[in-house]
Amino acid sequence: MKTNIINKPDMKLAANRQKDATVFSYLNLDKFDAIKSLVKGLKYFIKTYGCQANVRDEETMRGLLENAGYLPTENVENADLIIINTCAVRENAEDKVYGEIGNIKYLRKHNKNLILAICGCMVEEPEILQRLLDVYKEVNLFFGTHEISELYSLLYTCLTKQERVIAVESKPGEVIEGLPVCRNNSFKAFVNVMYGCDKFCTYCIVPYTRGKERSRRFVDVIRECQTLVDSGYQEITLLGQNVNAYGKDLNEGKDFADLLEEVAKLGIPRLRFTTSHPWDFSSKMIDVIAKYDNIMKFIHLPVQSGNDEILRKMGRRYNREQYLALVKEMRRKIPSLTLSTDIIVGFPNESEEEFLDTVSLVDEVKYEAAFTFIYSPRKGTPAARLKDNVPYEVKSQRFIELVKHLEKHIEEYSNSLLGKVYPVLVDGPSKNNPDLLSGYTESNKIVHFKGSKDLIGKIINVRINESHTYSLLGEIVDE
Ligand code: 5AD
Ligand code: SF4
Repeated sequence: MKTNIINKPDMKLAANRQKDATVFSYLNLDKFDAIKSLVKGLKYFIKTYGCQANVRDEETMRGLLENAGYLPTENVENADLIIINTCAVRENAEDKVYGEIGNIKYLRKHNKNLILAICGCMVEEPEILQRLLDVYKEVNLFFGTHEISELYSLLYTCLTKQERVIAVESKPGEVIEGLPVCRNNSFKAFVNVMYGCDKFCTYCIVPYTRGKERSRRFVDVIRECQTLVDSGYQEITLLGQNVNAYGKDLNEGKDFADLLEEVAKLGIPRLRFTTSHPWDFSSKMIDVIAKYDNIMKFIHLPVQSGNDEILRKMGRRYNREQYLALVKEMRRKIPSLTLSTDIIVGFPNESEEEFLDTVSLVDEVKYEAAFTFIYSPRKGTPAARLKDNVPYEVKSQRFIELVKHLEKHIEEYSNSLLGKVYPVLVDGPSKNNPDLLSGYTESNKIVHFKGSKDLIGKIINVRINESHTYSLLGEIVDE
């Protein structure tokens, strides 16, 4: 099959950050009418890995596909278009994708017209893309995070020519408004407030895969949130790699605190946001969170390490003392606050003492939730070029040790909820036991309880009867 290279990624271009104004752009409708007649009634299947940004991208792709006439299918074997939406943040996320493609590539033998596509963060990394191109000859479309709005013309090429299409342009990126959306959930929604990341933490691939920090206009975010409120949504999560940077690239005189306040005033029952970099988390933001009952008192505040030297090598822009001061201010102004974090153990050459600083920080902050990762070198990032003297077994041991400390605090927090009643937004049947329902407290704890399926999408009161470290068991009460 002929290869049609529209663009290939380049890490140097991907790292380019000129102080250009944010560019606003539109959906490429070039081939929209042409593909409508070609795809009517065809079925698509999307499998998404990784973070909420990818989940939200899937919703946009579903919107685009369904507008053109594609129908969704849950059965990958029936699909005429399969899209694997990938994550490159750690090697294990990458390995899952290799496994998935391995499992489905045979489908092209049965259906020569099948379009098998890979998109998302993995294809943005030149060496990963090359490996995918070399090993998975069955895959006939590769597109990057910046090409979602080009989907119609890319599909048109695949549908009309026997070509393998590669469209991955490394660029700062635009803000594209007016994209259709087909949401995965009818009562909880993600709303992008900004895209990309300019922090360039030395271990992280995201600034290369998702481009420069760029904000949506204030009115566009508010309009999307208002539509959700009007259609009865119960929860909105404002999304960005670092929402605190919202507005810095626009000349609107608005920051994230202003945006959060304005969305809270729309009256959505539950408002969340993620993720926040500690470096530009302002006091103004803390005050807004404290002021509005419908802003959930739950903050995800990745610390990554508790040691100043490691934080410096990670390029995190804060030290331990500054992070702890921020936590102190948050806990003082928001007494019911629950805090969650991300931590990386085994950054190159991390010493035992440096690791123990992370343990002591965990014991000081007493997080209510946490995600812990073993450092995974990402090609093209500065940290991946460092020689590392820490054996993997040592990193694993440290990981186990750290999780022990985190779990002690998480368990204490879970136990403190026993016997009390909390509002829970009912999510759906419990994943492990279909006889139970599951939902989340305002503090983002999952609770399982008995109840009617009619309650899905509603906020109800639940008394907590049993606590397990990561989940709770309860019963509905009429209060
Ligand atoms: N190795 C391990 N963890 C990583 N993260 C980001 N990059 C890496 C990496 N190379 C973690 C950080 C980040 C979270 C989303 O993923 O903790 O906050
Ligand atoms: Fe990666 Fe750091 Fe940006 Fe988060 S803030 S996406 S860890 S570079």
